[in-house]
Amino acid sequence: MKTQNQLPITISNKLFHSSFQFINLICFIFLFFIFGLSFGVLLSVNFKNFNFNLQLTHSAADNVAWQLQATERVGLRDFLKVPELMHDMSDEELLWRASMAPKVSEFPYERRPKVAFMFLTKWSLPMAPLWEKFFKGHDGLYSIYVHTNPAFNETESKESVFYGRRIPSQEVAWGKANMVEAERRLLANALLDISNERFVLLSEACIPLFNFQTIYSYLINSTKSHIEMYDLPGPVGRGRYSARMSPQIKLHQWRKGSQWFEVNRELALEIVSDGKYFPVFQQHCKNSCYADEHYLPTLVNLKFGAKNANRSLTWVDWSRGGPHPSKFLRPGVTVEFLEKMRNETCEYNGRGSSNACFMFARKFTPNALDRLLRFAPKVMHFKK
Ligand SMILES: *[C@@H]1O[C@H](CO)[C@@H](O)[C@H](O)[C@H]1NC(C)=O
Ligand SMILES: *[C@@H]1O[C@H](CO)[C@@H](O)[C@H](O)[C@H]1NC(C)=O
Ligand SMILES: *[C@@H]1O[C@H](CO)[C@@H](O)[C@H](O)[C@H]1NC(C)=O
Ligand SMILES: *[C@@H]1O[C@H](CO)[C@@H](O)[C@H](O)[C@H]1NC(C)=O
Repeated sequence: MKTQNQLPITISNKLFHSSFQFINLICFIFLFFIFGLSFGVLLSVNFKNFNFNLQLTHSAADNVAWQLQATERVGLRDFLKVPELMHDMSDEELLWRASMAPKVSEFPYERRPKVAFMFLTKWSLPMAPLWEKFFKGHDGLYSIYVHTNPAFNETESKESVFYGRRIPSQEVAWGKANMVEAERRLLANALLDISNERFVLLSEACIPLFNFQTIYSYLINSTKSHIEMYDLPGPVGRGRYSARMSPQIKLHQWRKGSQWFEVNRELALEIVSDGKYFPVFQQHCKNSCYADEHYLPTLVNLKFGAKNANRSLTWVDWSRGGPHPSKFLRPGVTVEFLEKMRNETCEYNGRGSSNACFMFARKFTPNALDRLLRFAPKVMHFKK
């Protein structure tokens, strides 16, 4: 019985079990459906979000890329920026800052060397129209610096190459040591532009003798600086030496030469940083000593003779004697005269003779300008 009885129970049990399993299955399917549904809903909502986020991050990346393109690398740009010409540095501050030089000799960028044209004038620059024609079309290969009497208050037109090129200046007297201070001030201001490689000192009475390309190549390619230097016995040479300059400077080291120089960057750095010989000149080269004719020739003779051509690049006529060279007025300016100054031979880069000796000439008066403007651009082949 036991077994007989057991059977229906087992069957009913089984039945019960199977119906229970059936309900379980329904529940499971239902839950699965609900889960699937919610998963689907969640997924679609999330996907929208995801999509949105994707778009957002995409446009942010676009933004960064755009910014990188708009502002290219900084690199050395900030460091190489040339300071404002009209700064308020004292001479002491200026000379110190200008004396800085990189110890690594190779430039880590493509440097286009420039020629610094430094005009040391009393007032205005009457030859400016000729210089304008000379510089035209050569942007980026030159810089201009003008030192005038500080009382000079005229301003150049905005179109002029001289516009805004005046440096903070101080008074200068003919033959005084403050003339050399002005030259050092010009050099120091020009040295602040690392692109400047050659430095020419010019006056308001100077003119170019060749076109820009010729002068640029002549200077940039020159292996020597051009400071006139010679030993002259007699009152206007050795006679200007003072025994009080000893022991820094001895009589046999004393030299004379024209004030109008042309130097490379290396020598310009030495001139602005000389703290040994210049103070001797400031102290003992007074009255009839004329520091501007002796300081640089003597300094170069003492320390840099081998790097100097010992001649000036500026043509001048001393044939009439006296303390001042000849001045050229309007009638003196002819094509033949210009050709004569251009047609001299000198030693250049160790070669016996080059087909050009002087790059500049003085002294030309303001009334010579109109004839110069008529002849010079043709004779010198200025760029149109
Ligand atoms: C410029 O200087 C001159 C003389 O020193 C003076 O007469 C003139 O008024 C000054 N001009 C200006 C604009 O300051
Ligand atoms: C320097 O001289 C060389 C060889 O004569 C020439 O190729 C070069 O262009 C010159 N440089 C300049 C700046 O004129
Ligand atoms: C210039 O003079 C110095 C002496 O101070 C001499 O050593 C040098 O060779 C001279 N330069 C030339 C190009 O003659
Ligand atoms: C330059 O000078 C030489 C003589 O020194 C002469 O033969 C030549 O004709 C002159 N050239 C010009 C263009 O004047």
